[in-house]
Amino acid sequence: MLVLYLNFIPISLFFAKLQTFFLRVYPNYGYILFVMYFLLYSSAEEGLEFPSFDGKDRVLNVNERNYKKALKKYDMMCLLYHEPLPSDKELQQQFHMREMVLELAAQVLEDKDIGFGLVDSHRDAKVAKKLGLEEEGSIYVFKDERVIEFDGELSADTLVEFLLDLLEDPVELISNPMEQRAFERMDEDIRLIGYFKGEDSEHYKAFQVTAEKFQPYVKFFATFDKGVAKQLTLKMNEIDFYEPFMDEPVTVPGKPNTEEEIVDFVNQHRRPTLRKLRAEDMFETWEDDMDGIHIVAFAEEEDPDGYEFLEILKEVARDNTKKTDLSIVWIDPDEFPLLTTYWEKTFKVDLFRPQIGVVNVTDADSVWLNMPNDEALPSAEELEDWIEDVLSGKVNTEDDDDDDDDEDNGIDDGSDEDHYGDDDD
Ligand SMILES: *[C@@H]1O[C@H](CO)[C@@H](O)[C@H](O)[C@H]1NC(C)=O
Repeated sequence: MLVLYLNFIPISLFFAKLQTFFLRVYPNYGYILFVMYFLLYSSAEEGLEFPSFDGKDRVLNVNERNYKKALKKYDMMCLLYHEPLPSDKELQQQFHMREMVLELAAQVLEDKDIGFGLVDSHRDAKVAKKLGLEEEGSIYVFKDERVIEFDGELSADTLVEFLLDLLEDPVELISNPMEQRAFERMDEDIRLIGYFKGEDSEHYKAFQVTAEKFQPYVKFFATFDKGVAKQLTLKMNEIDFYEPFMDEPVTVPGKPNTEEEIVDFVNQHRRPTLRKLRAEDMFETWEDDMDGIHIVAFAEEEDPDGYEFLEILKEVARDNTKKTDLSIVWIDPDEFPLLTTYWEKTFKVDLFRPQIGVVNVTDADSVWLNMPNDEALPSAEELEDWIEDVLSGKVNTEDDDDDDDDEDNGIDDGSDEDHYGDDDD
């Protein structure tokens, strides 16, 4: 439910104001809104021109008659699997806006040989079944023999970025110290790097095939350079796996590795102790909860407090990376401006300050670590204790429901917290 709701928020907030105005003026304002928006932003000088929808319909209505041909025609096919067009006017608007995201992406990527289409879950149920489309509202990308689900924010920016990533080579080569340093700085991404003899190495080929399977979510790098390999302490045919925000990589055991071994290893290690919420796979991340909850940390990296808090959080994550059930979702509010006020309302927190809390993904009920305004940030130890309490269930979203439940419950919790503070000293 929350997922669906979130899905509409960015776009609807964005257009809320314009919408009320146009509602009175134009009866069919869905398309006009989009055109207006891009016109507003395209009146600048040359060299910085946002694309405006040119009105040309590029998104195909996929059906039994045309789907095979369409899949054959393009290098990549991007399909929005959607519920039938609703009769409600507002829902129709939302539908058209999603369609327009595809139209604009199709227009921008016109010379990239990517097809775009819509599959109606009722009318085209047979096609959907044949193609293996399951989740209504999701976008599926067909590339070679693979189907890649896009489970990110449905905006033209995010979708286009995702598709462009998919067009790149699945393995990026690192061949000099400068590229190596850049690789080492990418600490937000899950990434692998292998050292191989050269392009023709069969082990490199296995690595390449594996990379395609995880593109673009897990980044694959390789080097054929002895010096780079030495710096990264890689032996011939060895593959290292880097979890986000960890200092040390883990080596995939049993080199040289087969495709299957690498796939298994990545699947086993894929859920990081600390991960950053990204627009391109935010819904997938959110769906990967820890038994119905997420530990969520809000911190703006560019804000001194936020930066500091993040450093503490990374330290805690490094110390606890062996706890396989622990996965903290870090959200930088700067990257989700359209969601910030929604989160503040839903979670009742001030996002101008760093926050960490537990969120129940069923009802978005939450509890937050108490960080009073005038006090310093928690130490790594305090944060670790709190996380322990979350994992053991001592801190949870259910006990503090003093709004809904009886007062006794709330009071009990209060004394419990005091107790826990005194206990350790
Ligand atoms: C989350 O909330 C739902 C609905 O209120 C509740 O049934 C469930 O037990 C909660 N889950 C956790 C892990 O607290």
